[in-house]
Amino acid sequence: MSAVAAPIERVGVVGGGIMGCGIAEVCARAGLDVILVEVDSAAADLAEQRIRASLERGVSRGKLEPDAAREALELCRFEPDAGALGDRELVIEAVVENREAKLGVFELLSKTVESGSAILASNTSSIPIVELAAAAGERAPNVLGLHFFNPVPVLALVEVIPSLLTEPDVIERAQAFAEGQLEKDPIVAPDRAGFTVNALLIPYLLSAIRMFEQGLASAEDIDKGMVKGCAHPMGPLALADLIGLDTVLGVSESLYREHREQLFAPPPLLQRLVAANLLGRKTGRGLYSYQ
Ligand SMILES: NC(=O)c1ccc[n+]([C@@H]2O[C@H](COP(=O)([O-])OP(=O)(O)OC[C@H]3O[C@@H](n4cnc5c(N)ncnc54)[C@H](O)[C@@H]3O)[C@@H](O)[C@H]2O)c1
Repeated sequence: MSAVAAPIERVGVVGGGIMGCGIAEVCARAGLDVILVEVDSAAADLAEQRIRASLERGVSRGKLEPDAAREALELCRFEPDAGALGDRELVIEAVVENREAKLGVFELLSKTVESGSAILASNTSSIPIVELAAAAGERAPNVLGLHFFNPVPVLALVEVIPSLLTEPDVIERAQAFAEGQLEKDPIVAPDRAGFTVNALLIPYLLSAIRMFEQGLASAEDIDKGMVKGCAHPMGPLALADLIGLDTVLGVSESLYREHREQLFAPPPLLQRLVAANLLGRKTGRGLYSYQ
């Protein structure tokens, strides 16, 4: 074991969608200084609104004191340029589940984050961490997956995913960060497509979409079956809409690319919904309508 590392104080988050905002929020609630980077100023403003709304929900549900919510928001800065991440000790990438987009971010981070000991992490659901590490060049030993679950302020699990190139010390620091500073419950997961949880979850969601697509059962009955019969908190179709159908498709494609097994192949209905930009809750319509 290496000597106990100092706690991380300055965190960067790249991407302010569902997950990036959730990650930024839990970091700020843990008292960390957070910079969230989005593609432009309008997207950065949207991310700020999303975190503000989530903190307000926490207050109205009695989970958070108003002062704590205000302090958390004050700890977050929203920027349209990754150049703002120079002094970060940990950066967590949470952009769209697209390989090229993520490779571009890791290449950029390897040049903009100044400290050679800074950890560069990805919240990817399925893209091999070793590919992101390779894009980070000399920083490859500092790259690993830190895979949070949605909604981040609620769900305790974080998958810590080392690649073949990750330094043991970086794994230890990431575990200590997730457990000691964010009070999450980490597991170490293998660097294979889908890691541990999505390798199991995604085929299940795809099976439900196929069952619905083939007209074998209604969406409501599929979901009710799993909620009432298996005590799941929500059914697979509602869960796919919550995750985002573009993300489910992206993960399915990564899993299929790696394993070439039919159970991971994206069903045509999923592909058509994404082509139509019907992505689930985040666009107001997906497998269900939310309008
Ligand atoms: N949605 C889930 O339930 C879930 C759960 C775990 C992990 N993930 C993973 O988290 C990541 C993000 O997913 P999400 O659901 O938050 O997606 P999302 O579509 O809600 O948000 C993605 C955000 O990234 C931004 N972005 C894109 N390119 C960028 C760049 N170069 N720089 C800065 N920002 C950029 C977009 O503007 C968008 O706001 C994906 O890798 C996904 O697989 C998602």
